[in-house]
Amino acid sequence: MPAKKKPAPRKHDAITVSVIKADIGGYVGHSASHPDILALADELLGRARDEGLLVDYHVTNVGDDLDLIMTHRHGNNSRKIHRLAWDVFMEGTKLARELCLHGAGQDMLADSFSGNVKGMGPGCAEMTFVERKAEPIIVFAGDKCAPGAWNLPLYRMFADPFNTIGLVIDPSMHDGFIFEVHDVHGGQDIKLACPEQMYDLLVLIGSPENYVIKNIYTRKGEVAAASSTQKLALIAGRYVGKDDPVMIVRCQSGLPAVGEALEPFAFPHMVSGWMRGSHYGPMMPTSRAQATPSRFDGPPRVIACGFQLACGRLVGPRDMFDDPSFDLARQKCNEVADYIRRHGPFEPHRLGLHDMEYTTLPQVLAKLKGLKPHKRSSGTWGRV
Ligand code: 13P
Ligand code: 13P
Ligand code: MG
Ligand code: MG
Repeated sequence: MPAKKKPAPRKHDAITVSVIKADIGGYVGHSASHPDILALADELLGRARDEGLLVDYHVTNVGDDLDLIMTHRHGNNSRKIHRLAWDVFMEGTKLARELCLHGAGQDMLADSFSGNVKGMGPGCAEMTFVERKAEPIIVFAGDKCAPGAWNLPLYRMFADPFNTIGLVIDPSMHDGFIFEVHDVHGGQDIKLACPEQMYDLLVLIGSPENYVIKNIYTRKGEVAAASSTQKLALIAGRYVGKDDPVMIVRCQSGLPAVGEALEPFAFPHMVSGWMRGSHYGPMMPTSRAQATPSRFDGPPRVIACGFQLACGRLVGPRDMFDDPSFDLARQKCNEVADYIRRHGPFEPHRLGLHDMEYTTLPQVLAKLKGLKPHKRSSGTWGRV
C-alpha cells in the first residue's frame, strides 16, 4: 500500500468526521467480521485517501458490523463520501458472498445508490467542525443493539453531574448542552436544553425505542456529539438484524473529558437487541479484540476508539475499553446476563409485543388467526 500522505496543515478549515457502518456478513454467524473484509475496506479507503477524497480513515469492526471512520472536507451528507462508503460495502458484500459469510449483504437494503446512505440500510453518524488546538474524539460502535442504546450514556455524559463533574466545576460547561432528539416513528426532531428542560428530555429519551438522541450541541451551537439513528426494521418493514449504531463524541475543553465520556459505560445498562434482535440485555464495554458476541449472540457490545485529530489526520486509535477499570462492568454485565437469560422466552427478557412486530410475531399471529401474512418480493415474511 502507498505511504500515508502528509495532510496539508489546514487546521482552520472545517473538517468532517463521517462514521458509516453496515453489517455485510458475519463470521461465524453474527459474531464477528472476516479479516479479508476488513482488509478489502482498508485497501479501498486507502485508495480514496491517496486520490485526495479523504483526509484520513480508519477501518474497524464491532462484532459483525464494519465501521468506516473517515475524515474529509466535503461536509455532512456528501454524496461523494456516502457513495464511497456504499461502494466499499457493495464490494465487501461480493467478497462476503464468495466466502459464504452469514447474512452476506444483510444491511444493504437498496439495490443501487441514490445520493445518501441514509434510508438505504447503512448507519451514519457525521459532524463538521473547526478543529481545536487539541481535538480528542471518541467513536463508539455497538453490536446487538438499537440506536436508543446511546440515550442513557449520552444523557449521563452531557447532563448528569453525578457522571460529569465538569458540568458543576468547569465554567465553560456550567450552562449545559442542547439535545436534539429524533422521533423514530416519523415525528419532528426536537431540541431541548439541559438542565432547564431535563425532565421533558427524560420523558422522551427514557423510551429509547421511540426517541433517540441524534446530536448534542453546546450553547454556542458547536456540535459535541452525533449518533446514527436509522432503524433497519422501519426501513425494510421486516426484521433484518439489529441496527448496531455508532456515535462520535468530541471531548475536553468545554466538553466532557475523555474519562467523563467513558464513565457511563462502567454501568452495563439494558438495551434492546441481543439474540435475533428480540431481547433486552446488558451492554458490555470491551476491547475490539473482545467485541465478538458469542453467548446467545451477545451480550450486546460497545467499543470505543479514541483519536486525536491533527489537521484531519486520525492519530490513533486508542482502544479505550481495553482497560482493567472496565473489568467490573464486564463482570456485572455477565451476572446480569445470566440472571435475565433465565427468563428464556418471557418478557422482560424478550421484547414487548410492540417491539416484536418486526420479528416473527406477525407470522405467528397470522397463522393462529388463519390470516395469510403479506409475502414480500424478497421472499421473506413482512409485517401484516
Ligand atoms: P479540559 O478543560 O481541557 O477539558 O481539562 C480538564 C480535564 O482534563 C479534567 O480531566
Ligand atoms: P446482527 O444485527 O448483529 O446481525 O445480529 C442479528 C441477530 O439475529 C443476532 O442473533
Ligand atoms: Mg449480522
Ligand atoms: Mg451486528
